[in-house]
Amino acid sequence: MSSYQSIKDLQIGHTQIRPRRLRLNQQIRDLVEENTLTKKDLIYPIFVSEPGTTKFEIQSLPGISRIPYQDILSEIEEINQLGIKGIMLFPVIDKNKKDLQGKESYNSNGLMQNTIRKIKEQFPNLVIFADIALDPFTTHGHDGITDQNNYVLNDETVDVLCKQALSYAAAGVDFVCPSDMMDGRIAAIRHALDKEGFINTSILAYSAKYASAFYGPFREAVASGARGLDKKTYQLNPANCLEAIKEAKLDIEEGADIIMVKPGLPYLDILTKIKQQVDVPVAIYQVSGEYSLLKLAASHNLIDEKSAVYETMLAMKRAGANLIVTYYAKWICQNIL
Ligand code: PBG
Repeated sequence: MSSYQSIKDLQIGHTQIRPRRLRLNQQIRDLVEENTLTKKDLIYPIFVSEPGTTKFEIQSLPGISRIPYQDILSEIEEINQLGIKGIMLFPVIDKNKKDLQGKESYNSNGLMQNTIRKIKEQFPNLVIFADIALDPFTTHGHDGITDQNNYVLNDETVDVLCKQALSYAAAGVDFVCPSDMMDGRIAAIRHALDKEGFINTSILAYSAKYASAFYGPFREAVASGARGLDKKTYQLNPANCLEAIKEAKLDIEEGADIIMVKPGLPYLDILTKIKQQVDVPVAIYQVSGEYSLLKLAASHNLIDEKSAVYETMLAMKRAGANLIVTYYAKWICQNIL
C-alpha cells in the first residue's frame, strides 16, 4: 500500500519541491522571465502598389492595405515613429507589366526600385528588406520561369533573380531576400552583387520555406494568381525536416547573412533544430494565413487578441528566433509594447 497521504509527502530528500514560488507575483515572474519581446525583434511587411492607385484594404488581411506609391512616405513615417527598424517590401504591379519571364522584376525604373529609392532618400536609416522572387511579376504567379509542362526552371530563373537583386541593390536596398527556393541562388546572387561592387548589400535567405496553405491571403494581397497554386517542386514538404537543415546549411555556405524559416508557428521545431546547427541569426515569418486566423478568431471574440498575439511572439522567440517578420508588427507597437 502506498504511504501517500498529502502533497507534503512529495519530497525529494528533505526538500519540498514547490515550483509555484517563482510564479507568486508579477514582479517575481518578471525577474525570472527568460524571453522578452522588443520592437527590435520586428520586421513589418508592406505591400506597395503602382502610382495613381488607391489605398486598398486586403480583405483576407484585416488592417493591412496595399499602399499606393504616392502615399508610401506617410506610411513609413508612421512605422518609423512607432520605433520599427525594418520593413519587408512586396510590390503589387500593374497586370499589364506581368509576363512569362518576370522581366519587370529588374526594371531599374520599376515600382520596387522607385519605392526603395524614395524611402531611402527620406529615411536612410530604416532597414529595407526586399523579397527576391518572380511571383509578383509573372502572369502565372510562379516564383520563376516555367517550361511547357509548368515546371519551374532552376538556372534560367536564378539568372533573372540575380538581375532583380542587382537592380534592388542599385536602388539602395539593405537586404535582398530570395524567397524562391531555387538551387544555388544565394551563391549566384552573392557573386553578382560582389562583382558589381555591392559588397555591403546583405542577403537574408528564405532557407526553409515550406509549400504551405498558410500563404493564401498573401497571394490575394499581391494578386499573384491562384491561391492554391502548387509550388511543391521548389518549396519544402511540410512532412520533412532534413531538407530544411540542408537548405539552411547550404545557404550559409553560399553566403547568406541571415536565414529564415517560414511559416512561423507550425514550424517552430524546424527553427529550433536549425538554430542548434548554425552560427548566423535566424528569422521567422509569421505568414499571412497565421495573421488571418488570429484576426478572425479575435473578431469573433474567441480569443483575447493581445494575449494571443503576444503568446505567438514569445513562442517564436523561445524557439530561437532572432527576428520576426509579422503583419502584427505595427499593431504590437501600438497595443502591446
Ligand atoms: C513569394 C512569397 C510568398 C510569401 C512571401 N514571399 C508566397 C508564396 O510563396 O507563394 C508568403 C508570405 C505570406 O503568406 O505572408 N515568393
